[in-house]
Amino acid sequence: MRSILEILAQGGQVSGEEISRELGISRAAVWKKIEALREAGWQIESAGKLGYRLEPGDRLEPVLWESKLETSRLGRGEIAYHDTVDSTNTQLKIMAAKGAPDGSVCLCECQNGGKGRLGRSWNSPAGQGIWVSLLLRPQLRPEHAPLLTLCTAMAMNRAIRETTGADSRIKWPNDIICGGKKLCGILLEISADMDHIDYVVIGTGLNVYPGAYPEELKHQATSLQEVGKVQSRAEILIHYLRALEEYAALLEQKGFAGIADAYRAQSCTLGSRVNVIGSINMTGTAEDIDETGALLVRDDSGELHRVLAGDVSVRGVMGYV
Ligand code: BTN
Repeated sequence: MRSILEILAQGGQVSGEEISRELGISRAAVWKKIEALREAGWQIESAGKLGYRLEPGDRLEPVLWESKLETSRLGRGEIAYHDTVDSTNTQLKIMAAKGAPDGSVCLCECQNGGKGRLGRSWNSPAGQGIWVSLLLRPQLRPEHAPLLTLCTAMAMNRAIRETTGADSRIKWPNDIICGGKKLCGILLEISADMDHIDYVVIGTGLNVYPGAYPEELKHQATSLQEVGKVQSRAEILIHYLRALEEYAALLEQKGFAGIADAYRAQSCTLGSRVNVIGSINMTGTAEDIDETGALLVRDDSGELHRVLAGDVSVRGVMGYV
């Protein structure tokens, strides 16, 4: 049986009569439940006989988006929603170790131990972004797992463009940028042996409001509200899950060839001059990606280098992008 919140989350006005019929309780009991939800912070308007209407605001509780998902895989496993948590990636790895199925999701309002790439931390203040991790148990060879990073970047970039109109692009390997500044970062964590992937945890941190990043990062970070029109975080999440399901299936069915052109089309790195900083250091032109997702950079002496995502930072010669 649906809960009263599930009924209201469908949207529109629902009469007390309809709710009492569906739940098999009296009108007075409905009213009591509505009051309890209001006390718990939900905004519920009442208009006499017309009934009740939920004002969802920009909340991310699963009850607000689960029934609107257009996926058959992502969001169809276990779903964990936390107010505050150390890291959604860490929590989802714990869930995975206990057997959570493919398609499980962990998300939160606030992380107090958010993890970034290359051992960095990730700012994740309450309500300011989408801090979410997805669990896949993909049908892929372990050496192809990094390609899921590219799928994730494509999916998030598409979701951003579809829902906010922002002119975002992908900075190799997997940052989403807009106006030369970072909007979203992606962190994949993998559990695999030589010939089998047990699971992949795909964590994304999307800055939705300017409070998502600290003042000192304002020259290289931005948020959706600054570059596009934000309706709700739940809407972006729904589009992201649908797009990632599609790209992951293409990768599983066709390998690199299934996603390569779509990645190239969304990239702002390919064709650009880049500085590679890390285990190798050089300046050159980013020419392409190969079938492992590595970046192919031609240095100024004409030599072609294969650059792996785990080893380096890539910066445009004119700045962050
Ligand atoms: C980066 O450094 O660009 C990657 C940042 C990834 C942050 C996300 S937020 C949700 C998930 N949980 C984490 O601890 N990290 C990722």
